[in-house]
This record gives sequence, C-alpha cells and structure tokens, in this order.
Amino acid sequence: MCGIVGYTGKRKAIEIIVPGLHKLEYRGYDSAGAALVGTNGIDLHRAAGKIENLEKSFLTSPPDRNATTGIGHTRWATHGAPCVRNAHPHLSQNGHIAVVHNGIIENHVQLRARLESRGYVFKSDTDTEVIAHLIQEFWNGSLMDSVSEAVSMLSGTYGIAAVSSDEPDTVVTARKGSPIVLGDCKDECIAASDVSAIISHTNRVIFLDDGDIARLTPGSIEIRNPEKTMVTRPSTVVDWDPGKIEKGGYEHFMLKEIFEQPESLENAIRGRLIPEDGTAKLSGLQLGPSEIVRITNIVLTACGTSYYAGLAGAYAFEQISGIPAHIEQAAEFRYRNPIVAPDTMLAAISQSGETADTLAAVREAKRKGALVMSICNTVGSTIAREAGRGIYLHAGPEISVASTKAFTCQVAVLAMMSVLFGRSRRLSNADGTFLINAIASLPELARRTLEQNDAVKSIAERFAEASDFFYIGRGYMFPAAMEGALKLKEVSYIHAEGYHAAELKHGPIALLDKNVPVVACVPSIPGCGKTMANIQECKARGAPIIAIATHGDERIRSFTENVIEVPECPDFISAIPVAIAEQLLAYHIANIRGEPIDQPRNLAKSVTVE
Ligand code: F6R
Repeated sequence: MCGIVGYTGKRKAIEIIVPGLHKLEYRGYDSAGAALVGTNGIDLHRAAGKIENLEKSFLTSPPDRNATTGIGHTRWATHGAPCVRNAHPHLSQNGHIAVVHNGIIENHVQLRARLESRGYVFKSDTDTEVIAHLIQEFWNGSLMDSVSEAVSMLSGTYGIAAVSSDEPDTVVTARKGSPIVLGDCKDECIAASDVSAIISHTNRVIFLDDGDIARLTPGSIEIRNPEKTMVTRPSTVVDWDPGKIEKGGYEHFMLKEIFEQPESLENAIRGRLIPEDGTAKLSGLQLGPSEIVRITNIVLTACGTSYYAGLAGAYAFEQISGIPAHIEQAAEFRYRNPIVAPDTMLAAISQSGETADTLAAVREAKRKGALVMSICNTVGSTIAREAGRGIYLHAGPEISVASTKAFTCQVAVLAMMSVLFGRSRRLSNADGTFLINAIASLPELARRTLEQNDAVKSIAERFAEASDFFYIGRGYMFPAAMEGALKLKEVSYIHAEGYHAAELKHGPIALLDKNVPVVACVPSIPGCGKTMANIQECKARGAPIIAIATHGDERIRSFTENVIEVPECPDFISAIPVAIAEQLLAYHIANIRGEPIDQPRNLAKSVTVE
C-alpha cells in the first residue's frame, strides 16, 4: 500500500527520495509527493497518478536542490479521492511541518472537529492531515516531542515521517501497526516503509517496534519507546541483492519472479533437508521433537494467495503428519472468537509479514495461549517479529503485486514442516526420506515446468479474449485451482472462479458454454480420475478445456489439445508446478491484453488495513 521515504544527510534529498519512491511503486499507489526542508521553508511537491507525474511537475516547479532533508510518499487512497489535494505530504496550518503517513487514523473525525474548533482549516479529505495540525498544536521546539504528543492522540495504525522547517536536518518517524525501517548509514539516515527503498544505500537496517519514535539526524538515530525511554533496537543485515529489485532484462517483475522460482525454491530448502534421517531441520521453529509431539492441532491463517498455500499445507499436515489441521481466513480468525485448544499451534503465513488481518490473528492467538509461529518472506517484518518463532522463505524480494515465488516457497516450507512434524509421529524414516527427496527435486520440477513457457503462451493467445474462466481441481488441486483463478483475475482483470471440481455441478455448471474456458488442474495424483470425469461434464456443455496435466499423460489428449505439461511429482508438492503453469498462463493473457501487470489497478502489495 502507501510508501514512505525520509532522508537527512549531506546529499540532495530529492535525489534520494524520488528513486526511493520508485522502489516502493510495487506496493501500489495512486498519487505521490515530497516535502523538502528548503532554504525558504518547506518545499512541497505533489501529483496525482504515477511518480512520473511528480517528476514532470519538477519542470515547472523545480524542487529545492540544496535541500538535504526531506520526506516522500506514495499514497494508496483510503480517505478521499486520489488527487493532488489528498496526496501526501500534508502541511500543518502554519506550513512549518510536513507529514507523510501510512495506515488509518480511526478517530480522525473527532480530532478534526476538535482542531477545527481551535481554528485549524483543513485542506484535504484525508485522515493524515490531523497529524500535521496536531504536531503544530503540541509544538514545543522539538519535533520529536511534538510528534510524540501528537501520536498519543491517535487511535488506529500509523507509520509516520515528519520534518519541520523549525528543526532542519531532522526527520522524525513513528510507527504503530505500519512498518518503519531505518537505514543505518554513516553520515546520513534513511527511513522507509520497507527495505526496498533503503537496500541500495545500505543493507544494515533497524526495524522500529510498535510505539517507537525515532529522531534521525545526519549519521545519528535516537529511538524512544512508548514509555519515552531511550532504547537501542538491533541492527539487522538484510541479505537482499539490490540487483534483485531490478527487472534484469524481463519485461515485467512478475515474469522475472516466475522464472526465479528454481532459485527461490533452492533457497527456501537449502540446508533444511536431512534425507538420511528422512526429516527437515527448521531451526527458526525453536521446537524439538518432544515439543512437536505435544502439538495436537494446527491452525493455519493467512489472506489471499498465502491462504491458498495454507490450504495446501493443511492437507499436507493431516496426510503426512497425522495432525488435525485447518486453515482460517485471518480476517475471520481475528473476529469470530475462535476456540484455541491446548497444544494448538497457529501458523501465520504472510509474504510481506505486514498484512493487517494476519497480524491481528497472530495477536489474538497469542492472547489465547496458542503456540504461534510465522512463515514470512520479509525478514524483520512485524508478523515475523511478533510471532517470535518462524521460518523465513528466503524467496528474495517479491516486487510484482501478484504473488508468485512466495506462494511456491510457502508450499515448500509447509511441506518441510509436515515431514518434520510427521517424523515425531507416524512417519517412518524410509517414508520421510522419500518425501524429503521429493522436496529436494522442487527446483528441478520448477525448471521443467518453466520449459512450457512457449506452449503456455500459445494457449494464452487462443483464450486471451475470453471474459470468464473457471479453474477446477480436487484434493491438493483445489487450492491450486483457487490460486490459478486469483492470479488470472488480478493481472488480466478477467472474471475467473476457482471451484472444487466436484462442486461445479452443484450450481456453477449452469454458467458453462463455449465462451467459458475451464482450466482443469489434473496432474496424475490421487483423485485425478474423478476430475477427468468432471472435465467430461464441462466438455459436454461446450466449454473449452485447458488442462494442466502430468507430462506423458495421454488420457488428457482425448479431452483437449490445450495441455500444459507439468513434471510428475507426489501430491503434497504438486501445487507447486501447477501454480507455476497457472502463473505463466495468467501472465501471458494479461500481457496480450496489455494490462499493467506488475501493478494491477486497485491492488496493493502489502495490505496493512483491515
Ligand atoms: C495475490 C496476493 C495477495 C496476498 C495477500 C496476503 O497475488 O499477493 O492475495 O497473498 O494480500 O499478503 P501477504 O502474504 O503479504 O500476507
């Protein structure tokens, strides 16, 4: 969602802020802006739409290039339309303070009324503007003190960066529920809402904790906790290669990330497989066999694509570990007062580690006494830190809004967990070894699936004009069908529904005709014969079939010539090659239709609001 960059140092602030904002574009946004602490006070620049519009505005209204301190923002509209007036930064009434904000201020209406009664005049429809006026209201000569007083009035979530012309060379940041990361550089300081905007300057970063306020001056960082005590937060080295957040010759990040999957899967499993013992080593879990054996119930929770990975994971836990497991949408888990039985483990799955509903589910599960762990990609993210124990995907930065490599790595991590948990129960060494060897083959399975790229592209050409799709599957192919449909609708804007293959005839089959292609996820795993029968039902209604089937399975050719072949593999990891095939299909269809694949309309990479 929204993105923040703040800078103070010796360099031209605008030359750090604008490239930083570009690095955050993938999060999704609809306006952009920057405020510099200039020689004549705050120098404000804002534009609706893309950052390029902001850069174009510099031609007629040049930014103060001598300014060495400033803040920038990409806004994803929540309160008020995406227009210049609502774009961040927002100024205080006296124009001395500029603020950018991620998150939602829930009591902004009350605060606005109170400030208006004291003579403040609002210029935007946003919830953020109250923060700028509150800082002015509490101004005591120190930006940090005034921000601290202002945020004490706020309910809701925020990641904030503020500057003031009355305290040049200073950026103050604060967070509650919306991440802020600080770049620990030598003679300068950078703050951002995520590491991507910092990594080209330093890989040494400090994550603020909820309630922290930080004062950045060139080369120094002072952090106060909610009790206003000075604290030191650990500095973390992020092992992202800055080159990984460039497109590297691919037309889109999505395609690059699809093709990175052999490598990302390799990284996700590296050092974690012990074939001779038929098990996995997942140190981040901090659980020994005697603790694992006490876990009698597993609840997985997540949103969107991560939810579908969790659904496949729940099947694997039951099948391989013999532990009752189910997945819950994080938004449901947080509000429906779930029963957390003793010895329940909650596994929160989140690529970004910042999804508001998943984070709230983690907190609720902790309150209820569950053993909580996380499966995240973003190192140091809030969910990873609050869960306390967990497994990182090591998939590398995922820039495309549509998740691809994170999904396959999530399924791989859940597969490793299932084997590990199974080994403390009914799984024999020999069976464990078989499964671990299958997991070890994942990079190769991904590589072979990617060889289908040209075949998928020609199928995409045949169906790119369709306006409705169905995706069907059963067993492990049910989550795969759901994920395939989600991917297609996100990037191509085509209506697509994922359905359990057996459920189709309980209603949706009424929609099928020659204009509605059905993507059948039907690799050779248990249950595929039944799905073949369902394919026949679809064909009988005239629906064109696109099949994702195991290489060499000739049966499928009698139903359709549109076959995407995936290599043979055991069922518990079969969602991985099938998802890669689906990702390619969604990508090519969207590309043929000319859609903005990496940043689809209305979507944000990290959903930090409920
Ligand atoms: C879809 C997609 C979203 C996310 C969802 C959860 O391609 O990316 O559905 O999966 O917003 O995000 P994380 O995994 O960051 O919690």
